[in-house]
This record gives sequence, C-alpha cells and structure tokens, in this order.
Amino acid sequence: MSLAEYRPGLADVPAAESAISDIDGKNARLLYRGFPVEVLARESTFEETAWLLLKGELPRQKELADFDAQLRQRRALHFRMTDMFKALPATGHPMDALQASVAALGMFHSTREVSDPAGNWESCLRILASVPTLVATFHRVRLGLEPLAPRDDLDHAGNLGYMLTGKEPSPAVRKVLDACLILHAEHQMNASTFAARVVGSTLADPYRVISAAVGALAGPLHGGANEEVLDMLEVIGSAANARAWFENAVATKGKIMGFGHRVYKVKDPRATVLQDLAEHVFAETSRPRSYDTALELEKVALPVLGAKGIHPNVDFFSGIVYQSLGIPKDIFTPLFAIARTAGWLAHWLEQVGGNRLFRPEQIYKGYAERKYVSLDERA
Ligand code: CMC
Repeated sequence: MSLAEYRPGLADVPAAESAISDIDGKNARLLYRGFPVEVLARESTFEETAWLLLKGELPRQKELADFDAQLRQRRALHFRMTDMFKALPATGHPMDALQASVAALGMFHSTREVSDPAGNWESCLRILASVPTLVATFHRVRLGLEPLAPRDDLDHAGNLGYMLTGKEPSPAVRKVLDACLILHAEHQMNASTFAARVVGSTLADPYRVISAAVGALAGPLHGGANEEVLDMLEVIGSAANARAWFENAVATKGKIMGFGHRVYKVKDPRATVLQDLAEHVFAETSRPRSYDTALELEKVALPVLGAKGIHPNVDFFSGIVYQSLGIPKDIFTPLFAIARTAGWLAHWLEQVGGNRLFRPEQIYKGYAERKYVSLDERA
C-alpha cells in the first residue's frame, strides 16, 4: 500500500501496535493476551479477565483478591451523580446517560495528569467499578425507582445483575452474565477502541477517553446492533416468516443486523459461545420465540450471505440472552460498554505508555483557493 492510498474506513490499515488481543478472522479465533476467549468465558471471571487485559498476565491469587476488593470499594457514586440522573429525561437512551455520566464522573475524580502510573491505575479501578453503577442508577431513576446501593458482598457480574433487576441473580444466571462480560471485554482495533486511542493520544484524562468510546459504541453499525437485532426479530415475528422476510431484505438490499464483520469472514467465535449460553439460560427461564426466529434466519441466510463471508456476529445472540434474563432492550448496548470498558482502558494504558498524537492525513477533494464574493454581489 502506498502511503497516499486512501482506504475507506481505514480497512486493513494498522492504527497501532498492540499486545492486547488478536483475531484470526478466517479461523474464528479471538485471543486476549494469548488466551482463547472461549476458554476465558468458561474458566475465568470478568475480574480476572479485566486484570489480564490491563496488566498483560493472569493475576496471582493475592493480586486478584486485592483487585476484586479494590473494585468493590469503588462502586458507589457521589450523591450528586444520582441527582444528575434525575435531571436527565427518563425517555433518553441509557447510552447517552452513560456517555454523559462517565464524563461527569471525571469531574468528581479529576486526574487531568496522565503521566503518573499510580494515578492512572486508580482511574482504571474507579471507572471499571463505577460504570455498572452508572448504568443501573440511570435505569432505576428513569423508572421512578430509588437507585440501589451497590452490594460489596457480590462480585462484578452478581452486583450488576442485582443493581439492574433488584434481585440477586442465581449462580447460573450470574455465570451467564459473567461470561457475557468476558466475551465482550475486548476486540482489538474496532471503532470504539480506536476512538478511545485517538482521544487518549491527546493526553485527555481516561474519563473523557471512555466517554468518547461509549459514544462510538452506541452506533447501530457497532454495539448498537444488539438492540436492533431484537427489533428485527420482533418484526419478523416467527420462524415461519424468516425466509420471506430474508428474501425481501436481500431484494431491497437491506442489512441483516447481527450479521457481518470487518474482520471475521466465518461465524464470530463469540456468537458460537453466546448461542451455547443462550441454551443454558433457557434451562432456567423459557425458550423465547425470538431464538427460534434467529435460528431459522441464520439457516435461510447462510447459503446467500455465507458465500460472501457474512455470518452471525457477537450481537446476533447476545440480545436474546439478555432478553431471557429480563434485561430491557435499551440496556443491551450499555452491558456491552460495561464489559468493553476493560478493553478500552487496556488500550488507553497502552496508548499513553508509548504515545504519539493521532493526526492522520486526508485526500483533499474540495476547491482550490478562490476569491471571496461579498453577499450583495452573489448571484
Ligand atoms: N447484511 C447484508 N449484507 C451485508 C451485511 C449484513 N449484515 N454486512 C455486510 N453486508 C454486505 C454489504 O451490503 C456490502 O455488500 P456490497 O459489496 O454488495 O455493497 C458488503 O457486504 C460489504 O459490507 P460493508 O458494510 O462495506 O463491510 P464492512 O466491513 O464495513 O461491514 C459491518 C462490517 C459490521 C459494518 C457490516 O457487516 C454491518 O453493517 N453489519 C450489520 C450491523 C452489525 O451487526 N454490527 C455489529 C458488528 S459486530 C459487533 C461490534 O463490533 O460492534
């Protein structure tokens, strides 16, 4: 590639050197610091995976216990943060509330200087611990309910489930939530991570960095797709309608949400694990109609889209899992953000650890210099 060659969407253009995660898009492999994601989803916990992403190695017992305790101590919000949520419109999207509130959180824990490793680590702990509370607090406040104080006797996933639903999740549900957090924790140079690294490269503090990443994640081509998948499955209505709906979508050049990926040209390995998890959840809850619709849609789409390397991605089954856990649709993307905060922070640490300001070039397609014509002389 010549340096002046323009690649829309920066496809295949390396934007950083990174040691955090790796994807083999032809063989459906995703590694976090060298460990396959499906192994971590089965064997690890979100806390352990977050440490792995942030520090580069699996923690020893004491390191993990201390990290876990430090996160539990930092979950509660300043009462003014709760008041802020009361001032937001209850009809607003939780991703907007999250983007605004992460930035606001930085006003309470201001660490403008990012050259101090101890201060940076403290920010990582604070942000990772607080993001679930931000999401759950807005959710309760918009429903007119009192926010629930975080419970420090529960782990990250258990406390998240509790704060969102008001009920302590069963061990099986907690495990599913934990696995979902692990599966979404990191995914190399996607749009939100790139946004995080770009903002981080200006030496903005990590609250601003994470706020920017949340904004990028919210779009329907990125994390927002999980919500749109459920909308699509509801419109299709039942497995029996899937073929006709799909044929019409192909004829009208519509996009099938939850399908396709810039890097994976086979089924996303996270979708495979999520499908497995979905089946586990249905043993505790009931099998929703949307799951059968999704299976049929995948079957009818495969011969047409599969041939073009377009397969289900992580968002195809995640919403069905969350729906079965009783989580509202517009909280799906915030759950993605809660998990991905670990990856974003790992990238931020990596970026500031060897920083150079992002300042790419453009290919100018506009006018050459021209003469200004005053308003009364314009035709
Ligand atoms: N349904 C139908 N056709 C598709 C789809 C789809 N979901 N995805 C890609 N295509 C077609 C697209 O129409 C285009 O066809 P043509 O060459 O004939 O114009 C071709 O495949 C290339 O598509 P593209 O959008 O230029 O490719 P990309 O690498 O920019 O796309 C993507 C990646 C994720 C934006 C895209 O696949 C998409 O829009 N998918 C639906 C939204 C979605 O599920 N997003 C979640 C992504 S995974 C989780 C995350 O990282 O957030």
